[in-house]
Amino acid sequence: MATSSSVRPLRVLTGITPSGTPHLGNYVGSIRHSVRQSVAPGVESFFFLADYHALIKVQEPALIQRSTLEIAASWLACGLDPERVTFYRQSDIVEITELTWFLTCVTGKGVLNRAHAYKAQLDKNVAKGEDPDADVTAGLFMYPVLMGADILMFNAHKVPVGRDQVQHIEMARDMAQRFNHQYGEHFTLPEAEIDDAVATLPGLDGRKMSKSYGNTIPMFAPRAQLQKQIASIVTDSRAPGEPKDTEGSALFQIYQAFASADETEALRRAYAEGVAWGDAKQMLFERIDREVAPLRARYEALMNDPAEIERVLLAGAEKARQLSRPFMSELRHAVGLRNLAAGRDKGAARKAAKVAKPSFKQYRERDGLFYFKLLDAQGAALLQSRGFASPQDAGRAIAALQQQRAEALAALAGQLEPADADALRAATEALDTLAEAAAAGSSES
Ligand code: TRP
Repeated sequence: MATSSSVRPLRVLTGITPSGTPHLGNYVGSIRHSVRQSVAPGVESFFFLADYHALIKVQEPALIQRSTLEIAASWLACGLDPERVTFYRQSDIVEITELTWFLTCVTGKGVLNRAHAYKAQLDKNVAKGEDPDADVTAGLFMYPVLMGADILMFNAHKVPVGRDQVQHIEMARDMAQRFNHQYGEHFTLPEAEIDDAVATLPGLDGRKMSKSYGNTIPMFAPRAQLQKQIASIVTDSRAPGEPKDTEGSALFQIYQAFASADETEALRRAYAEGVAWGDAKQMLFERIDREVAPLRARYEALMNDPAEIERVLLAGAEKARQLSRPFMSELRHAVGLRNLAAGRDKGAARKAAKVAKPSFKQYRERDGLFYFKLLDAQGAALLQSRGFASPQDAGRAIAALQQQRAEALAALAGQLEPADADALRAATEALDTLAEAAAAGSSES
């Protein structure tokens, strides 16, 4: 049965800035959770490397390249399936920069003045008695608009982020609202998704594991290095045999992020019984290594084959651009960047619209259900739907096909009679033709 949720699956979009080497905090706080979520039924996931964002912070070209490679390899090694999700590099989607400009023009400067990342720099400068805008690039100032373009380009419903990013999602929502108000409904209003169950991992010194504190454990350090790093986690000076506190123990918290409830309970008992710190560290090392070792092997293989990663990312970009290209032409038209002849010569446009083209036919069968067909320009059926309970349900499916085309074909597979690859290709082409005709036709008004 057609429901609106089967017409448009929940879209989840995750961006990560390639500005360093991924560490265990990234893994526990984001990668592991989002890879799991990406295989949930009814979810359509977009993952991308925000390399345009990286340029704001990092001005070392080799570091950008290296980090992009490492982060892409990490996601893939952790099980992200590029067949199943859309996995791409931001800078391959050239439409993102164009959309950034459109959004720039509907975003209040005052709104950007209040963005945390920019304000933090400002406050620091003022505290030091310097010019408020010292070291502030326009890139840092515009950061939220670029992020808005990432999100709105793919009409994401949900954006999983840390608390520090929630403000940016609200700004994206605001941009979408203003644009929709000005130019008609084009954008979905995104929502932040904060998962408080996801652990923040303490680092070597007990503070939150973060690149800016220099207390991280790289995710794919070789075994010997991992062991050495774990040995350097701070503990108190209690001797073997003395009971230890789990409360406030970084070692215990890291262990908990990897272990099952039973394993955690066992370590809690060992603490109470006075386990030596050296032995507890050995337990932690083995527990982490057990989870990471198979991922590390995949990671190393991927890092030795950058051409394969490049191929995967370019294929992902092509998949993403199947959406961003037509969407951007819709948006260009909406704001008035239009074909001049189409507007001026109304007669010609109308004539073009009358040229035979594919069409949808809706009808009711004797079984009382509502059906549709997609016909080609000659009237031959390209697609045949199954029965819908109401004409609205059938209409929604048609609208999805008109707007999301190939993607909707896949999403609606259950509501269509089976078609082979050739028929699907022909149907996709017909849907593209219809979309082009619709864009040309609406430019008359
Ligand atoms: N700014 C985010 C970060 O540093 C990364 C990012 C860029 C992002 N664009 C995005 C996250 C869009 C979610 C959606 O963490």
